[in-house]
Amino acid sequence: MNDITVIGLGAMGSALATCLMERGLGVTVWNRSADKAATLVDRGARLADSPREAVRDSPVTVVSVLDYAAAQGILDQAEEALSGRTLVNLTNGTPAQARRMAAWVEGHGAGYVDGAVMVTPEMVGGPDAFLLYSGNESAFGQHEDALSTLGNSTFIGENVASAAIYDLALLASMFGMFGGYLHAAALLRSEGIPVSRVAPMIMSLLKAMIELYPAIAREVDTGEYASPSSNNAMMAAALKNILDGSREQKVREDLLTPVWQLFDQSRHHGLGESDISALVPLLEAGDSD
Ligand SMILES: NC(=O)c1ccc[n+]([C@@H]2O[C@H](COP(=O)([O-])OP(=O)(O)OC[C@H]3O[C@@H](n4cnc5c(N)ncnc54)[C@H](OP(=O)(O)O)[C@@H]3O)[C@@H](O)[C@H]2O)c1
Repeated sequence: MNDITVIGLGAMGSALATCLMERGLGVTVWNRSADKAATLVDRGARLADSPREAVRDSPVTVVSVLDYAAAQGILDQAEEALSGRTLVNLTNGTPAQARRMAAWVEGHGAGYVDGAVMVTPEMVGGPDAFLLYSGNESAFGQHEDALSTLGNSTFIGENVASAAIYDLALLASMFGMFGGYLHAAALLRSEGIPVSRVAPMIMSLLKAMIELYPAIAREVDTGEYASPSSNNAMMAAALKNILDGSREQKVREDLLTPVWQLFDQSRHHGLGESDISALVPLLEAGDSD
């Protein structure tokens, strides 16, 4: 019996397995493409012949593959081995997928913990690494020491969908930021300006804006929206200029069109003078016009 099993040896799974081994744990691995295990095996990992053998080899199995369909396809081959063990699924997915997986795994007699790795593979095990977990708290507690070697571990609660919704929310913030940055880069290039020249200014602006997040969060949570100096109607006009300017410069505007639409809707809802926090309820399904 080994200490821990890692299923999935893509960029993330390999980083997880490497980190666990570096911390002195005995690691069993399995990956659809077995060749990806070579380096880990050279360093002392045990390569299982099948998902079933991999799960059977340790009290706890960590899964990190592309998506839940891949994870389920692998676990279907291991269901007889699950009973009495813990499965920690670090695969990115939706809350509904986490709930379905939890029911299936617990139905096979195993403890299920859903999780999310909130850093890149290079950062796993480092001081800034953090991972989120939810689901079966006693199963998490049994393996917390091993899991904590991967980074700062936070157990959010027994609602198994929590880790997935946190994961999607954090990534939504990140992708929104990336989308804006990519659009900015295209706009700059349209005028022959090197993006590197402007990147420090963009970073400076974003750092200042991020300081507003706690106040925005409080307003969203209380439903009491401030009337700031930068209101939604003013920002809708600026966003329209971004779209018009992009068209003029032959840059696709479609990435930011829905953002302008949201700010523009504020006027129809009497929220033109409000802070951006007031726009959040408009994003709830059925509220668009
Ligand atoms: N990379 C990051 O920066 C990062 C950060 C946080 C979270 N994550 C999450 O970590 C998870 C793994 O990401 P990654 O970066 O390791 O991706 P990756 O490098 O593309 O590796 C994908 C893994 O999934 C396996 N896989 C894909 N389809 C499969 C299938 N149908 N059946 C069996 N195995 C299948 C691959 O196996 P093969 O080797 O056989 O193709 C490989 O092990 C994802 O859910 C991702 O969202 C990634």
